[in-house]
Amino acid sequence: MSHETVEKKLGLLTVLIVLVISVGGLVEIVPLMMSAAKSQGNVHVTPRTALQQEGFDIYVREGCYGCHSQQIRPFRSETERYGPYSVAAESQYDHPFQFGSKRTGPDLGRVGGRYSDDWHRVHLRNPRDVVPESNMPGYPWLANAGIDGKLTERKLRTLRMLGTPYTDEDIAGASAAVAGKTELDALIAYLQSLGLARPRGS
Ligand code: HEC
Repeated sequence: MSHETVEKKLGLLTVLIVLVISVGGLVEIVPLMMSAAKSQGNVHVTPRTALQQEGFDIYVREGCYGCHSQQIRPFRSETERYGPYSVAAESQYDHPFQFGSKRTGPDLGRVGGRYSDDWHRVHLRNPRDVVPESNMPGYPWLANAGIDGKLTERKLRTLRMLGTPYTDEDIAGASAAVAGKTELDALIAYLQSLGLARPRGS
């Protein structure tokens, strides 16, 4: 069958185009579906607590993503330093996503549990008190800023509309959960939760 015949016979051309696109589509889409099942299927992610969610919002407000990514790539150099590579399901409740690409500081995808709360307290006030060569800015005002619990409740309600499975009790208890806490407490609670939803077996 010469090229000219195919170009002149419209019916045949259409059939061949559909065939090529179908095969090409399958080759691209099927592996993606298989790897999605592999990377999401065995990760159990619970929604953040009210305090952790407030911490997430402070993280975004302060622009921490400008220096820190939260995406450990599947390379040996990364997994040996930071732990198992990140999978999609772990960030499913992030609005907005914090993957990032700028790493002036280390990836924070699995920083939860790596340091004590007290370490974070000192580090966030003035990083050079614990890491003398650090060029991370200090955030001393967080320790003096309170959290408005009325807004926390509304935040959780809005996040539920976006798909985070908060229960009625979570929402009803949101104000109480952040009462008397500072922005620093919230940010640390958030940092300590990062990366704890690991794929099983890793
Ligand atoms: C100008 C860039 C910059 C910004 C902005 C920044 N950091 Fe950092 N961060 C660094 C650098 C560099 C380090 C490594 C030195 C150190 O530990 O201080 C670091 C380290 C850290 C660590 C310790 C990580 C580890 O594995 O040792 C945490 C936690 C952290 N930053 C949290 C934050 C948070 C939360 C914010 C926002 C409130 C923030 N950073 C903003 C640059 C930055």
